[in-house]
Amino acid sequence: MSYPYQLKSFEDYQQAWQHSVTDPEGFWADVADHFYWRRKWDKVLEWDFKKPDVKWFSGARLNITENCLDRHLGTLGNQPAIIWEPNDPEERHRILTYRELYNKVCQFANVLKNNGVKKGDRVCIYMGMIPELAIAVLACARIGAIHSVVFGGFSAQSIADRIQDAQASLVITCDGAFRGAKDIPLKSVIDDALMACPSVKKVIVCTRTRTPVSMLKGRDVWWEDEIKAVETMGNPPVPAEEMEAEDMLFILYTSGSTGKPKGVVHTCAGYMVYANYTFINSFQYKPGQVYFCTADIGWITGHSYIVYGPLSAGATTLMFEGVPTYPDAGRFWDIVDKFRVNVLYTAPTAIRSLMGFGLGPVNHKDLSSLTTLGTVGEPINEEAWHWYKDQIGKGKCPITDTWWQTETGGIMIAPIAGITPEKPGYATLPLPGIQPILVDENGKEIEGNGVNGNLCIKFPWPGMIRTTYGDHERCRTTYFSTYENLYFTGDGCLRDEDGYYRITGRVDDVLNVSGHRIGTAEVENAINMHAGVVESAVVGYPHEIKGQGIYAFVIADKQVKDPDLTRKDIMQTVSRIIGPIAKPDKIQFVSGLPKTRSGKIMRRILRKIAEGELDNLGDTSTLLDPAVVEEIKQGKL
Ligand code: WT7
Repeated sequence: MSYPYQLKSFEDYQQAWQHSVTDPEGFWADVADHFYWRRKWDKVLEWDFKKPDVKWFSGARLNITENCLDRHLGTLGNQPAIIWEPNDPEERHRILTYRELYNKVCQFANVLKNNGVKKGDRVCIYMGMIPELAIAVLACARIGAIHSVVFGGFSAQSIADRIQDAQASLVITCDGAFRGAKDIPLKSVIDDALMACPSVKKVIVCTRTRTPVSMLKGRDVWWEDEIKAVETMGNPPVPAEEMEAEDMLFILYTSGSTGKPKGVVHTCAGYMVYANYTFINSFQYKPGQVYFCTADIGWITGHSYIVYGPLSAGATTLMFEGVPTYPDAGRFWDIVDKFRVNVLYTAPTAIRSLMGFGLGPVNHKDLSSLTTLGTVGEPINEEAWHWYKDQIGKGKCPITDTWWQTETGGIMIAPIAGITPEKPGYATLPLPGIQPILVDENGKEIEGNGVNGNLCIKFPWPGMIRTTYGDHERCRTTYFSTYENLYFTGDGCLRDEDGYYRITGRVDDVLNVSGHRIGTAEVENAINMHAGVVESAVVGYPHEIKGQGIYAFVIADKQVKDPDLTRKDIMQTVSRIIGPIAKPDKIQFVSGLPKTRSGKIMRRILRKIAEGELDNLGDTSTLLDPAVVEEIKQGKL
């Protein structure tokens, strides 16, 4: 493969960005020309942020898997598409060439068809990081089914919420998943979830851990048996379903400041073009390189930068089943060494946690294959940035700090690796096609440099969210109504003297814990489910490794006799309702919460208390009962 639209110099980048602003349709049509279309578009872009209604490449017909698989077979058929490294380093790794991956995707697409899945049906995927997860995702896309991948760390209740919202008819899961020293009983979690999900008619279970599972007659089938059945049928080739540009490709649930997680919808053509363009440019990926993104496919990073971006570019993408610290804190570096990894993409939280183990696990690992490093998910502090640069990149690898969101589909603001002059802690400059704007509370543009504001985007890009599944109005109010004619990101941002962007963090009630997005309201609802809890308020506080930790102020219904035990119970409840990632780090029992006269919790004050800034609470004049704050401060001391 060659990448005619790969940027080669800073001038190239500047020109491309300029072109993308003066003639967005021409710019994206030039990029899109290099994909495989069953039919080309009639119109590149139609848009109206008020509704919102955004259509890219209207009239075009395609299937994303023909771009990820079929079109590479002639040239890259024997090249590795996926390298898979298991959780246990003693187990053999697997390599799937493009041809093998193609065959397996077609096979499993047949399985889905045999199980009654049709174009437009929603399929929930709840699996660990094994190649079959990527195969399941691609098989859905091949037959035009809409996948909704749920991260393997979410609880039965969270899965049930997502399945009900999407009205999924089929679930693909595993008996279990290996993650570090733990076995996660995925199928058993699914069994619990499905008690509340009558829409699900079939469950396909892939064997991984050989944990005993219960298989429900008429509903549950084994992946391996279904593959055999397809083989007996002679494994008929599965022509890819011809999709319209704006047909849904997938739903991915993400947390907001209110309510239950919403299903972010991405569509076929725009998402494909954007994931591919940003992959090739941000990482400056070169054909033949080995690329390793440490995310889980359960998050958008895995969708765009383990599966669709790399595969559409004919890249070799490495999938890792385990965790960075198993069997020891040198695991990432062992993998880099073992497979001669060239591009490494990970989260600041992983870097900070590995930094804590010192250089022992890094020394004597051959990291000389690395050419490019990336980070994603949260702001990176300078210390971690320099450690990554010096100890992992040995001072010779550019770092691309990529800012984006589930809703943006792909990277938005980031250095073009090795081309954009970098600055630690800065996502630097917008990619071509992206027009950021900073606004004040009233939506007035903040112009010039050396300014802070709320980050919005003023023009559509192909990978952007189209709707929130089943509730378009929610999409409008969440992203397009705060400021007129702008997409609001929810992030605060600094544009420095050089015009460089630095994301300062969420300005809404969304937490970012270890790069995972969690809504405070969601955690509060889970805490409030505990029988002994009357009310709670959750805020974030700076956490050395996780970036943000979860701090919960809890009113209990009676005197708490054993606070430690009750804390554990509450954490257990949250784990059960949402998943272990949402467990509060700290719980403080209080007798009241600071509220305004109209009954709104003043989180600003709680945030200050959680941060330990007890002498700097800001304006407290609108408090209904100032004594409450004094008491909370005392409890904290
Ligand atoms: C939120 C989006 C996009 C993939 C992973 C997270 C924060 C993301 C950065 C970065 C500072 C970042 C923002 C954003 N964020 N990348 N490079 N620097 N903050 O996706 O779960 O949708 O979360 O993550 O606050 O809004 P997500």
